[in-house]
Amino acid sequence: MAEAMIQGLLSRKTINPNGIIASEPRKERREELQRKHCVKITSDNREAIKSCEVVVLALKPQDLEGALTELNGSLLPKQMVMSIVAGARLKTISEGLEHEVIVRVMPNTPAQIGEGMSVWTASHSVSQGQLDQAREILQALGKERYMNDEKFLDMATAISGTGPTYVFLVMEAMIDAAVHLGFPRHIAYELVTETMRGSINFAMKSTKHPAELRNMVTSPGGTSAAALYQLEKGSLRTVLSKAILAAYEQSKSLGESSSSVKAEKRNSVR
Ligand SMILES: NC(=O)c1ccc[n+]([C@@H]2O[C@H](COP(=O)([O-])OP(=O)(O)OC[C@H]3O[C@@H](n4cnc5c(N)ncnc54)[C@H](OP(=O)(O)O)[C@@H]3O)[C@@H](O)[C@H]2O)c1
Repeated sequence: MAEAMIQGLLSRKTINPNGIIASEPRKERREELQRKHCVKITSDNREAIKSCEVVVLALKPQDLEGALTELNGSLLPKQMVMSIVAGARLKTISEGLEHEVIVRVMPNTPAQIGEGMSVWTASHSVSQGQLDQAREILQALGKERYMNDEKFLDMATAISGTGPTYVFLVMEAMIDAAVHLGFPRHIAYELVTETMRGSINFAMKSTKHPAELRNMVTSPGGTSAAALYQLEKGSLRTVLSKAILAAYEQSKSLGESSSSVKAEKRNSVR
């Protein structure tokens, strides 16, 4: 994700390569990033943050705590920290770093090709200028939507963050069904992906509600009506709704458990 962000920022000319310093523990990966993007590279996180305006945390959730401990006390009050770490709350990051100026982002996988949907929020200490800067950085990953309450981040995790998983599963099921009917797999793949892409573009360009678009292709006694009957009988809507609710509950409980584990650790150190 960090590389996608670097790539997006450089291709949009938001910043020059020498304005970016990436910190990465593995030597081969450092060399690869340096070769591909000509950015400055270090293996030292404290060194990386020394003179920058924005510090992006793009680690796996399990690596976050170590990085927060390492960076604790090294940030200047005017530096903005932007975390894309799934489930990590503003409070967790702020307390871990003992720093106030935090932006929390929930991106999604298509961000890797600059077509992501990022939902984000910020702590009260983030200035208007820094909000604008955060927005510009996130546009390197695709579209972005600011929400003024952190509660929306768990909801966004269930919709846009986890959303590609639902889409890929539907895609896979349709491809398998097409193969079942007798299509070679590569043709099944083309038919399904182009149908999905075209339908989404059509829906986005149309002013009509999805139900209206669906009704337009559902003729009496036709193929769509027969298929829809089976989809409704199989409770597709209810299953999707339950899946989204489960993802939302999981996101809330992961956020709660990670912040309470960190609080326990801090208390035991004190
Ligand atoms: N991928 C997505 O589409 C997506 C979508 C939504 C949210 N996210 C969130 O974005 C975050 C990053 O995900 P990702 O897919 O980009 O993960 P990733 O490919 O594993 O990248 C994490 C990077 O952090 C490096 N790293 C590990 N420990 C470090 C440390 N202590 N200091 C500095 N760098 C360190 C890793 O280095 P090595 O691998 O070389 O050890 C790796 O290059 C995660 O929290 C994830 O939940 C990702």
